[in-house]
Amino acid sequence: MTRELHPDRPLVAGNWKMNGTPASARVLVAELVSRLADRPPAEVLILPPFTALEAVGAFLGGDPRVRLGAQNCHWEPKGAFTGEISAPMLESLCDYVLVGHSERRHLLGESDEVVRRKLGAVLEAGLLPILAVGETGAEREGGLTAEVVERQTRAGLEGLSPSQVALCTIAYEPVWAIGTGATATPEDATTAAELIHRVVAEMAGSAVVVRVLYGGSVTAANAASLVRARGVMGALVGGASLKAEEFAAIVAAAG
Ligand code: PGA
Repeated sequence: MTRELHPDRPLVAGNWKMNGTPASARVLVAELVSRLADRPPAEVLILPPFTALEAVGAFLGGDPRVRLGAQNCHWEPKGAFTGEISAPMLESLCDYVLVGHSERRHLLGESDEVVRRKLGAVLEAGLLPILAVGETGAEREGGLTAEVVERQTRAGLEGLSPSQVALCTIAYEPVWAIGTGATATPEDATTAAELIHRVVAEMAGSAVVVRVLYGGSVTAANAASLVRARGVMGALVGGASLKAEEFAAIVAAAG
């Protein structure tokens, strides 16, 4: 089954990272839905830890305003991979899977090749991938931002058909801005987004348009300028997504 995708609608995604129990996740999502408009101006996605996906999904009970995603998966569908979770195991629990988050690339050593295989596994399972790309502070200072963003984007999408690329969302997340309070300027976000759109057009044809999100210290205060920067169609939010009121304000700012 292919999931519904609305590339012309902003996407505001909350990456809860390694936070919360099933019980506390239910409380957080209850607070969030109580603060969302009946028709939010963006698609709202939350990425709870694997262990809370089922509880959050049961709480939502099909509420069309909020979709669910996982923060990671393994590239193989099953097998002797102790402690791992595969894409087919997530198929009944969520719609999206994030791959290539910088914490996995840099803290857990995931290579471009691993990210590419994971992205393929997500599509194979009929789920929607979000590919995260972005340069470190040192790479930025070395003038390598464009090179890194292009390399990670190309590597992640390599070998996909145009119709598979069309199912992808790409999050530009400068590593130096994640969890630091430092944000890229809207112009930085636009420069990276335009580069990503160019790479996608080269690889899949100009008829394929994917959503590019910005991520890195997005808050209610800075969301309006970043979420709707030229070329950008939403945000991937970490820390601020753990505060229902603030995350709901970021969603509202996408309108
Ligand atoms: P942050 O995280 O909003 O806390 O900077 C963003 C992310 O890691 O996706």
